[in-house]
Amino acid sequence: MTISRKVEQWVKEWAELCQPEAIHYCDGSEAENQRLLNLMVKSGMAVKLNDEKRPGSYYFQSDPSDVARVENRTYICSEKQIDSGPTNNWMAPAEMKKILTEMYRGCMKGRTMFVIPFSMGPLGSKIAHIGIQITDSPYVVVNMRIMTRMGEAVLKVLGDDDFVPCIHSVGVPLAVGQEDAKWPCAPIEKKYISHFPDTNETWSFGSGYGGNALLGKKCFALRIASNMARREGWLAEHMLIMGITNPQGVKRYIAAAFPSACGKTNLAMLIPTIPGWKVETVGDDIAWMKFGEDGRLYAINPEAGFFGVAPFTSMETNPNAMLSCKANSIFTNTGLTPDGDIWWEGIGSEIPEGTITWTNEVYNKDNGKPAAHPNARFTAPALQCPVIDKDWENPKGVPISAFLFGGRRPGTVPLVYEAFDWNHGVFMGSIVGSEVTAAAIGLKAGVRRDPFAMLPFCGYHMGDYFGHWVNIGENAPDPDKLPKIFNVNWFRKGPDGKFLWPGYGDNIRVLKWIFDRVEGMAAATETAIGFVPVKGSIDTDGLHGVAEKMDEILKVDKSEWLEECELISDHQKIFGERLPKEMKAQFEALKERISK
Ligand code: OXD
Ligand code: MN
Repeated sequence: MTISRKVEQWVKEWAELCQPEAIHYCDGSEAENQRLLNLMVKSGMAVKLNDEKRPGSYYFQSDPSDVARVENRTYICSEKQIDSGPTNNWMAPAEMKKILTEMYRGCMKGRTMFVIPFSMGPLGSKIAHIGIQITDSPYVVVNMRIMTRMGEAVLKVLGDDDFVPCIHSVGVPLAVGQEDAKWPCAPIEKKYISHFPDTNETWSFGSGYGGNALLGKKCFALRIASNMARREGWLAEHMLIMGITNPQGVKRYIAAAFPSACGKTNLAMLIPTIPGWKVETVGDDIAWMKFGEDGRLYAINPEAGFFGVAPFTSMETNPNAMLSCKANSIFTNTGLTPDGDIWWEGIGSEIPEGTITWTNEVYNKDNGKPAAHPNARFTAPALQCPVIDKDWENPKGVPISAFLFGGRRPGTVPLVYEAFDWNHGVFMGSIVGSEVTAAAIGLKAGVRRDPFAMLPFCGYHMGDYFGHWVNIGENAPDPDKLPKIFNVNWFRKGPDGKFLWPGYGDNIRVLKWIFDRVEGMAAATETAIGFVPVKGSIDTDGLHGVAEKMDEILKVDKSEWLEECELISDHQKIFGERLPKEMKAQFEALKERISK
């Protein structure tokens, strides 16, 4: 393997601090992958699934204390606190580095330090970037191999160039002869997911799960990359990317941002219910976008796999996701059936007798404990998705014609509306939110704002982030070629508390309207909040009992929006001085239009 002096020196320094028993540079080969998986099966960390049911796939149970991203232990360590903004935890970089250096000292004793060169985005793409992650978790290595382009080829492309350094340890050194835990991790107060935006570094300690540990994903591709993008004039967004082809064979790409738990993966892989329309997937979670030579905005999916929430994914709700993980996949915290397959709540079949739960007990329907943790995940190669787009690895990216924003809003927000212009669209992104019930999440009931679905992922002051979006519009090489911006809401409820819109595959009917708007073909009415479809312009053919509900589904109610304005006002106050004047102006204009 050709390893540059820069990389070698960096690895040496970290090895001196972490004191691993061995250092292994990952080449990304199948043989290496198999060796690590075999070792984990032998140690009891992994279970090989039945090859007849789930070929090439493995099952893991995490420690019950290490099951999700830990937002309260996630820090943006900019030099000045104000630059991390009101929505991030902050600590001064020197202070954080001092704490973590002491925690990293000797933290890999008795373990192997793996060095993972990885590319976020197709190797060699001008939009892609290379990182190197150091980790003491073989589970992280095998997941990173699915989620990124990883291994020797990356080092070749990197040459002597700089890379984004990502440091990770589960934080459990092993004394000589000490038996390892099944899922080693540190207690919550010792977990740190730290980002140093001024030097493009991520230092993560104490967790082995998901976004805390697979550092290419949320840490690099969103928190660090959002800083890089701001400095360099591009966009790093929490967005799916999908291609839509109409019956005439015209294809357009859209990118869409929704807060977690709004069905992003389902939308990215949607199976249309109206004849002649086709949806193809470029990505389900993250989009990196730059202007191309033709003045259009081009997007790549920086990832190479899906790290999807398993519960309630089924052949009904998302067959393409189910087919993506039918082989060569990793399952974490699902149930394990006696015949060596996986099971989760909402998978669409009865739980087999004797299924083992994610906490390693025999499932007992009477004790109220689920088989799968609600954040149980599958890690599946994107290439296995039956509707993966033919251009998903195109180094140029795909041209984006529209942006979609949306959240879960039982009231107020119509099924779809279009922004008047770019800055109005940025304002729409800035007020995205989902309504939460106090009981479900332990938060204050009401609308939880999640601007651009980036609340946990924006690596700098969110007010400056809105300003960056405004700048992208101002500096666009050709403003006419900017994507049009829409807001959607699949979750509006009627007075009976039931969803008004069928959702899932029928969302293509809304995408069709959006597609036709982009093409200048669909009719819209101007309302106080934006352009709303005229009656009859959303195709409801073949849907039972929906046409008569369309007025309710598309309603823009003055009193609801006056109330919404009160909430938006509170939300805008959070950003203080750094709320761009354009966003204040958009809000004033909205209030005026509504009050008319
Ligand atoms: C994710 C998330 O895991 O957004 O993708 O929480
Ligand atoms: Mn996400």
